[in-house]
Amino acid sequence: MDRMEVTETFDGIVLPGHLHTAESLRFARSFQFRDTDVLIATYPKSGTTWMQEILTLVYSQGNLQPAQTIPNWARAPWLEHTYFKEMLREADGPRLITTHLPCQALAPALRKSKAKVIYMARNPKDVMVSFYHFHKLAKFLPDPGSFDDFLMRFLDGKVQYGSWFDHVKGWLSRQKELELFYITYEDLHQDLGRSVARLAAWLGCPLQEEALRVILQHCSFSSMRENVMVNYTLIPREIMDHSQGRFMRKGTVGDWRDHFTPLQNMLFHRLYRENMQDSSLRFHWTMD
Ligand code: A3P
Repeated sequence: MDRMEVTETFDGIVLPGHLHTAESLRFARSFQFRDTDVLIATYPKSGTTWMQEILTLVYSQGNLQPAQTIPNWARAPWLEHTYFKEMLREADGPRLITTHLPCQALAPALRKSKAKVIYMARNPKDVMVSFYHFHKLAKFLPDPGSFDDFLMRFLDGKVQYGSWFDHVKGWLSRQKELELFYITYEDLHQDLGRSVARLAAWLGCPLQEEALRVILQHCSFSSMRENVMVNYTLIPREIMDHSQGRFMRKGTVGDWRDHFTPLQNMLFHRLYRENMQDSSLRFHWTMD
């Protein structure tokens, strides 16, 4: 497969060369957003696919056809990926776009428009666990090594896609400059109906009761796990080895508790506090 062993470096962040090239990253940085664009921004494993599915169905008013016939990466393509230009839907009205890039790379382009940004975050302990398991099936990512090694590299910001801390602080510190809606994976878990209704209202796309009912049913973990348009089983084995795990793995809050030793937890806490002490951001998850 193409560039499976290659990595691209972008603003000091290492990214998989299978999905990114210097040219695709340059293109992303200078992209001309339209006022009607909606950008989903996340650090990997924060519930990106969940948000892509929700927004697809908010804009279709609960019509399942796009979610059941078009893969998520074509419905809401990643701005920085090599295939982005081919995939971008050139239609009037909102274009759904996804990114894992840090805010400083996109803020200048975003500020030139009124494009809406939905920033979705997740408890970094669960992100780290999910990312570790994802490395085992994603052949375009390096071997994660032991859980302990991966945890250290994650805390050090030395994994692919860079530091979780910088990503979250970068995007959320620009909440006032951008048209930005902040939501967490934990919010969706706690009350999916309320979260979807809030999102839809913010997007100016309110939902009828029946549409909301369909969205809640379709966006449940069990339903998305079986939907080949979002569970990544369409991706060939050489790129994602499905014998090594499922993309829709557990879909829970607090899975870190089944993974961390007390020592790892203590270290995580310490580095979390150190890295977040310069930030007044309040998060919707518990670290204990
Ligand atoms: P786990 O590995 O903890 O199960 P992303 O799309 O950003 O790569 O995030 C993937 C994570 O979101 C995975 O977490 C996946 O199971 C979870 N996820 C995807 N859809 C979900 C849903 N409908 N409900 C709960 N979790 C979901």
